Amino acid sequence: MILGIISAMSEELELLLKEMDNKETYKKANMEFNVGEIYGKKVVCVVCGIGKVNAAVCAQILVSEYNVTNVINVGIAGGIGEDIVPGDLVIASDLIQHDMDATAFGDKHGQIPRLDTFDFKCSEDLISLAKNACEKNTNHKSFIGRIATGDQFVADVEKIRWLKEMFNALACEMEGGSIAHVCYLNNIPFVVIRSISDNANTGAHMDFEKFKYIAVENSTNILKAMLKEM
Ligand code: ADE
Repeated sequence: MILGIISAMSEELELLLKEMDNKETYKKANMEFNVGEIYGKKVVCVVCGIGKVNAAVCAQILVSEYNVTNVINVGIAGGIGEDIVPGDLVIASDLIQHDMDATAFGDKHGQIPRLDTFDFKCSEDLISLAKNACEKNTNHKSFIGRIATGDQFVADVEKIRWLKEMFNALACEMEGGSIAHVCYLNNIPFVVIRSISDNANTGAHMDFEKFKYIAVENSTNILKAMLKEM
């Protein structure tokens, strides 16, 4: 097994990279691929940058050039719904791209035209590994459900309402759905785990800065626990 670990921002991987042994770093597509071992497991950790294109390029390089067999995407997300508050964790059951709109051709919102699936389902094994890790390693609540991805930092109550009604999503972020798409095309099991940093509302930007560090610490602890169990 070679595990690819992707996050969008350097803060999100900083703590995990400290655990890496025999680290070698390669640069490709303006991204640093850190190849090494964590707790004896082969891993490639990379910061992909923000948004769907960066994330997709990164995921495909991990698959094609580093032969990863599994992918985990960690990071932060905006929470959708009153039950989910900053600090909570959302493990994706599946992901969709909320900004994909070919409704003019009769496709439903989010459907990628001519693709044989609507959503991208995460690996059941990785989901249960993540759920166990959450239960044993944080005091925060964890949820399993759909994550909606798009090239937009959502800071608008109307948009959250729409994401909930249209997709029944628990969280929104900007990379997971495109990593999921690449993994789907390459038949690679994956999971996305997000710590909630804000409620995607009008104060989202402020909350985000405040909760970022708690959220990052959270997901690092979960990842460490998962790696120990793998
Ligand atoms: N990541 C963290 N918070 C987010 C939000 N509100 N929208 C999109 N991505 C996010």
